[in-house]
Amino acid sequence: MAIEFAACIQRIPVYPVAAGYDLGADVAMLASNESPFEPLPAVVEAARRAVSGVNRYPDPSYVALRRALADRYGIAPGRIALGNGSCDILLAAGAALLEPGAEVVYAWPAFSVYPHLAAASGARAIEVPLDEDDRHDLDAIAAEVTVATRLVLVCNPNNPTSTALALGPIEAFLELVPRHVCVILDEAYCEFALTLGDPFASVDLLERWPNLVLLRTFSKVYGLAGLRVGYGLCGDERFREAVDQVRQPFHLNAVAQAAAVEALKHQDAVEERVTRTIASRLELEEGIRELGLWLADSEANFVWVRLPESEDPAREEAAVASGLAERGVLVRAGGSLGCEGALRVTVGTESENARFLAAMRELV
Ligand SMILES: Cc1ncc(COP(=O)(O)O)c(C=O)c1O
Repeated sequence: MAIEFAACIQRIPVYPVAAGYDLGADVAMLASNESPFEPLPAVVEAARRAVSGVNRYPDPSYVALRRALADRYGIAPGRIALGNGSCDILLAAGAALLEPGAEVVYAWPAFSVYPHLAAASGARAIEVPLDEDDRHDLDAIAAEVTVATRLVLVCNPNNPTSTALALGPIEAFLELVPRHVCVILDEAYCEFALTLGDPFASVDLLERWPNLVLLRTFSKVYGLAGLRVGYGLCGDERFREAVDQVRQPFHLNAVAQAAAVEALKHQDAVEERVTRTIASRLELEEGIRELGLWLADSEANFVWVRLPESEDPAREEAAVASGLAERGVLVRAGGSLGCEGALRVTVGTESENARFLAAMRELV
């Protein structure tokens, strides 16, 4: 007899992981919005030092990392949630806030983990289409908030479409949401978004909206995707307590904690990498436009490209994505991210971008 699983196992979508981790070194990995830059030597050294102590469990209170983030953003350490990647905090938020009868509202397409939250908890997901420029339609999202709503997710900049909203419209939106409804502003790519000003700008919102959480990560701009460290800056300490309550203790390993603490000390290098990424993105965008393709206005370390119109966008997209893979370039096809007929392409090194453009010239 087969094992009988919980009903949620039928509902939870399988996360569309990128292929290619087994393809060896000569592949342009432009599929997961990672940083093309290796961690700084001081960060690698801090991680190495931490490895020598891993016979002990990690600090369960994450004191050093909480303190470093508290100092950087000027908020109390108790209002900083930490996770094994920001995904960990997202899933914990689902467990802490949702249940059958409750609703979670978010734009779609957005980050592919969001549908997991409702599926796992038995809550109802309300997916609100993006506008014609592939941006969040905040008025339409606000209109979907009902007495059943427990959680609203706003992805800014949005993955996969790369577009960002300025703080003004976000403040106007927060005014419309009742204060007992948790709003998570997923800012995984905020450091790349010129529209937002800087990574401190949205932090001020937390004092006015205790129901707000800014969700961030060390996986992108800090180049620590392989170690998984995410954090939430919380308007209210109760959110941090709740997401800690639903997770196992010691959820952030010692090496990741040490690397993240060290990474925060090197903001000049981080800013330089942001500048290089944006310069590289502008070149990539120019090359894509020369191919006659439409791009969303990117505020991130990736771009969202529409393929030429076709009667069968799914087939067109699959042909281009597999043609790119045959040429050693991995990107994400839009269909796996909620929108057929598009590609999401991470900004890579100059040579990776050139390789992508050369392959695209042959394919479209
Ligand atoms: C919008 C968004 N949020 C959250 C994450 C999760 O990042 P991590 O769990 O590595 O911190 C990602 C990763 O791609 C993302 O694109």
